[in-house]
Amino acid sequence: MRKPFIAGNWKMYKTAAEAEAFAEEFKKIYAPSDVRVAIAAPYTQLWTLRKAFEGTGIGVAAQNMHWEDQGAFTGEISAPMLKEIGVDYCIIGHSERREYFAETDETVNKKVRKALSCGILPILCCGESLKTRDAGQEKEFVGAQIRADFAGIEAEDAKKVTVAYEPIWAIGTGRTASPQQAQDMCAYIREVLTELYGEDVSEEITIQYGGSVKPANATELMSQDDIDGALVGGASLKPADFLEIVHF
Ligand code: PGA
Repeated sequence: MRKPFIAGNWKMYKTAAEAEAFAEEFKKIYAPSDVRVAIAAPYTQLWTLRKAFEGTGIGVAAQNMHWEDQGAFTGEISAPMLKEIGVDYCIIGHSERREYFAETDETVNKKVRKALSCGILPILCCGESLKTRDAGQEKEFVGAQIRADFAGIEAEDAKKVTVAYEPIWAIGTGRTASPQQAQDMCAYIREVLTELYGEDVSEEITIQYGGSVKPANATELMSQDDIDGALVGGASLKPADFLEIVHF
């Protein structure tokens, strides 16, 4: 039985003071339930959140990491560094990283494997552009991402990966995929995972939808069979909005 998982992605928003204020406000209104919750914050706010969320069960996520443990990679942060300060998850392969920082399925795959080997749970992002969808090639495209990003990952590890399906045309645009469009693709992703790992494993893998998720559309999206949660950008910046989504 898959447990719903709602993760906030703050992107490059919030200073440490703002993160602390968010955490204090969120803790006042949050009541633990059987929904898994995490916030992905900028690196410099991870420790702030780790301390603020102590004992609440709320997870802390990074938004990126390097695939090596250490080395001459100026400006990078490694999985063991994240693990040391108690980070639980890491978003890997977000479309903004693929687009603006030239991440490829090859580097995404290396990062996913490294995260798993260090005990960091990956939130692996995939999703097509509008051009690809308009050309009717969205399943082929996302299927290829999944196959490449899971390459070399054993079934036991694959179960620990959360897949976030985020159509690029729905991110930050206010244009959410319809529940049917989101469900169709999430079901297809599970089909590809079944091909790779068999049904017992694919049925255990959490698949989130992301792209303009808001309090107003969360319930319908979450009620789809293959959608197990959400990766929430803009609407995760305000405690009350994020909580409404957590309580979908
Ligand atoms: P959005 O972002 O909710 O602001 O569309 C989602 C994401 O990029 O993870």
